[in-house]
Amino acid sequence: MVSVFNIEGLRVIITASSRGIGFGIAKVLVREGARVVISSRNKERLYRALHELNNIGSGEAYAVQADLTRREDIERLVEESVDRLGGLDAIVYVTGPPRPGRFQDLGLNDWEYGVRLLIMSAVWLTYYSLPYILESANPSITYVTSVAVREPIETIALSNTLRISVHGLVKTLARELGRKGVRVNAVLPGYIYTDRIREIASDKAMRTGKSEEEIINDMIKEVPLGRIGRPEEVGYLVAFLLSNYASYINGASIPIDGGLLKSVF
Ligand SMILES: NC(=O)c1ccc[n+]([C@@H]2O[C@H](COP(=O)([O-])OP(=O)(O)OC[C@H]3O[C@@H](n4cnc5c(N)ncnc54)[C@H](OP(=O)(O)O)[C@@H]3O)[C@@H](O)[C@H]2O)c1
Repeated sequence: MVSVFNIEGLRVIITASSRGIGFGIAKVLVREGARVVISSRNKERLYRALHELNNIGSGEAYAVQADLTRREDIERLVEESVDRLGGLDAIVYVTGPPRPGRFQDLGLNDWEYGVRLLIMSAVWLTYYSLPYILESANPSITYVTSVAVREPIETIALSNTLRISVHGLVKTLARELGRKGVRVNAVLPGYIYTDRIREIASDKAMRTGKSEEEIINDMIKEVPLGRIGRPEEVGYLVAFLLSNYASYINGASIPIDGGLLKSVF
């Protein structure tokens, strides 16, 4: 298999990666010859994903079970990953989806859990990984968030509100770590075909009386390219950002949404 992005051997942790966007990213990176650690809560699904990755060939994959809402899990994830990979060049932060709902549908416990899931997990992962990343010859950090940080989506109040902090972190770290050669960027997916998109469609279907299929078709109509994206398409963008072809990209937030976002900036 020919590597397009020249990232063979790159040592990467990808979080929330047994399914969906994280798994799509893992597949692309392993095909490209990277050495990755995938992670999620459910052990059975995680090891099924690992098995699939190890059948792709080219790179290598390992799995560490971890819940992103638990600081001690993230500390262990980083330590075990560094042991298996012999160091760390990059983290690709993906998080589990927050509970869908408008402000009035959510309780205070949802907000506190949301803060751990969508903000503290990014801080913990960065905090524990940074000492290793600073020793790398090709260091980078990529956070996967959502187009909702640019244009809020009515039914996902937690995502609209909390993920913006991660973009504050991107800009802060891009300035703080740039001189040390660490590039820090974010990727903002639009509609990507995963279990999460089905969850949002089913939540909206319940509110509107439409079928899930109708809701998905409404989403498709919103996208100028006329379709929902695939997890691996997010993976290609991430592979590029990890590579030396992106050597002057730092502090950027890049949408991958088929043209969904309407705003100019
Ligand atoms: N799909 C979209 O259109 C879209 C668009 C924009 C943003 N996003 C965001 O991108 C992220 C990934 O979405 P997705 O569509 O790939 O979701 P998904 O298909 O539901 O997959 C979620 C992944 O996250 C893991 N996960 C969930 N909670 C976790 C936790 N607390 N700790 C560790 N791992 C956890 C899941 O495994 P376990 O359940 O086994 O832990 C699974 O591997 C989410 O934050 C989502 O809100 C998605």
